[in-house]
Amino acid sequence: MVKVKVAKGIYWVGTIDWNVRDFHGYLTKRGTTYNAYLIIDEKTALIDTVKNSFSKEFVEKISEIIPLEEIDYIVINHVEMDHSGSLPEIVEKAKNATIIATQRGRDGLIKHYGETLTTKTVETGDELKLGERTLRFIEAPMLHWPDSMFTYIVEDGILMPNDAFGQHLASSQRFDDEVDENVLMEEAAKYYANILMPLAPLITRKIQELNQMKLTINMIAPSHGIIWRSNPSKIVNAYIEWSKGIHKDKVVIVYDTMWESTYRMARAIAEGIAEHGVLVKFYKLRVSDMTEIAAEILDAKAVVVGSPTLNNTIFPSVSAFLTYMTGLRPKGKLWAFFGSYGWAGGAVKKMVKIASEAGFKVYKDILEAKYVPTREELEKGFRFGKEIGEKVKTIG
Ligand code: FEO
Repeated sequence: MVKVKVAKGIYWVGTIDWNVRDFHGYLTKRGTTYNAYLIIDEKTALIDTVKNSFSKEFVEKISEIIPLEEIDYIVINHVEMDHSGSLPEIVEKAKNATIIATQRGRDGLIKHYGETLTTKTVETGDELKLGERTLRFIEAPMLHWPDSMFTYIVEDGILMPNDAFGQHLASSQRFDDEVDENVLMEEAAKYYANILMPLAPLITRKIQELNQMKLTINMIAPSHGIIWRSNPSKIVNAYIEWSKGIHKDKVVIVYDTMWESTYRMARAIAEGIAEHGVLVKFYKLRVSDMTEIAAEILDAKAVVVGSPTLNNTIFPSVSAFLTYMTGLRPKGKLWAFFGSYGWAGGAVKKMVKIASEAGFKVYKDILEAKYVPTREELEKGFRFGKEIGEKVKTIG
């Protein structure tokens, strides 16, 4: 295997998961990587491990650089199994290694792998001298688990923030200056929207904290995807913008349909919105990827959701979408609802209730049609869309 050097004495020893398409529900159309890093100094440190199914490859990769017995420290920045899954196999061979984690990381490791692992706990500001290099630890609770931690290599200015600043993007290339920038930013935005969006205030505070520490950051080496070495501030600035909730004149229409009544209403609404030059994105849920819709919503000003009534309630795919979105809590959007029904309604009222209870800003009007929308009802849909388009233009 080719050794991938990140800096002098620092190697990428991660694995590429080319084929994963469902990462606990997140559709990873471009696969992903599990990045781990090996630092060779007077003392040797392994930063994170990889998903368990890649353990054999991972052990082989490290062994080509150094015998596992010579690893002195294994830093576990995050307990989630895509990063800690290979730990039992590594520890079996790296018998002299001390595991480094936060207190919550230690607690999590015990719950995942039992009491047998020797773990030293660290807090923000603690340092570990390896020789020429020093590791400094920065706790990052809830970015995105309570145990999460960043590791900073002081002398090289390399930040290893685990999940933060990552992307689900499998590639034979490791660095930002080697890959298509549009694809990289698309996947970074999708990752942020689906994993970090609910944590926006914590992200803002963590970036402020890093600024106050006056760290020189020459490189950001996350645990998924591509390493930011040519311009690490690009992704930091993108996170600042995304966490502020900067929005475009853009509306995302999300709906499902049984006999095309809700679809026709969605089309009429879309035309009304577009009348104002507002960008419209249009998704039928059963043929769309919910994680891509979440990424579209990231910079939209409004979301318009349509559902048929089925058995007096919301159509299942729309219900699942709303559950997902109330968890992600996108900031500062206007939400509007519409739908069709046969003999008794119910879906629209229930969607409004879910959105209101989640604290979403809900548009004052709803739109409903019985059975098949008439020409007049579609014209009403067009006007409904036009009003939403006007409203969107006034949102700062
Ligand atoms: Fe990539 Fe939270 O694990």
